[in-house]
Amino acid sequence: MSNTVILITGAGGQIGTELVDALRAEYGRDKVIATDLLPLDTDGPFEQLDVTNLERLSDLIQQYKVTQIYHLAALLSSSGEKNINLTWKINFQAYHNILALAVSSGIDKVFFPSTIGIYGTTTPKIETPQNASFVPSTVYGISKLTGEMWGEYYRKRFDLDVRSLRYPGVISYKVLPEGGTTDFAVEIFFAAKKKGHYTSYLKQDTRLPMIYMPDVINATLGLMNADRKQISTSMGYNLTGFSLTPRELHEEIQKHLPEMTIDYAPDARQSIADSWSDTIDDSLARKDWGWQPQYNMSQMTADMLKNL
Ligand code: SER
Repeated sequence: MSNTVILITGAGGQIGTELVDALRAEYGRDKVIATDLLPLDTDGPFEQLDVTNLERLSDLIQQYKVTQIYHLAALLSSSGEKNINLTWKINFQAYHNILALAVSSGIDKVFFPSTIGIYGTTTPKIETPQNASFVPSTVYGISKLTGEMWGEYYRKRFDLDVRSLRYPGVISYKVLPEGGTTDFAVEIFFAAKKKGHYTSYLKQDTRLPMIYMPDVINATLGLMNADRKQISTSMGYNLTGFSLTPRELHEEIQKHLPEMTIDYAPDARQSIADSWSDTIDDSLARKDWGWQPQYNMSQMTADMLKNL
């Protein structure tokens, strides 16, 4: 029997909620310790945890004999701009503590969610390569790029098995994302069903890379279950499902709900979106550990509307 015990921070978030279930299905209910700042109704072990509390984190690792840590707690790009110190603390400093604890407690593997937010205005926007000039425009992007670099450092210096993915905008129906720039691609579905109308805070032709939740889960488990020999970097792997604009997504939804309308009122998130990529080259993930997305925009749209 495997001795894997996984601790997840930010378990109540958009990705955490579904990843906890997927990991429990794979490793067993009691082998996945969900943690979050706020109490959480989850079917399995749960501990309330402020990720900036190093001592408590260390105690939980000992108590549960944790062997893997997923640091999902984060502030996203838009809310991060409203609280840059807290963003740095949670997204990076807490992660830095986790890396150090991982080495001192003999943790086997660490997962760090990175993002398209690490790209900036100097990064090629079309088919963004795995390695390019990255000068992020938000503290969110800075914290995630710094986290990636420290992960790579820990791999080389301490032989720690750190794995990371640069998630694009994540679309799902169970828990809404909060404080991100790509949130419109989720909000639009809820608005379509509820009101038949959506006001987009991004311009109609702003193209951004996206991924549907089942592919997020496949990618994350695919990366974490891959043989270590297959992993050529502890920096985040470029990852994408498809790219879309608010207008294209609206037109796709109209195939199912012809009456649905949209208008546009761009806000501060527009300049963040403008600094990110249109499309992404994720060939390294495909080559190293066999990444292959299952959902395109129309398959995602049909499935979202069916489940909402
Ligand atoms: N979904 C994130 C955001 O919009 C990007 O990783 O901030």
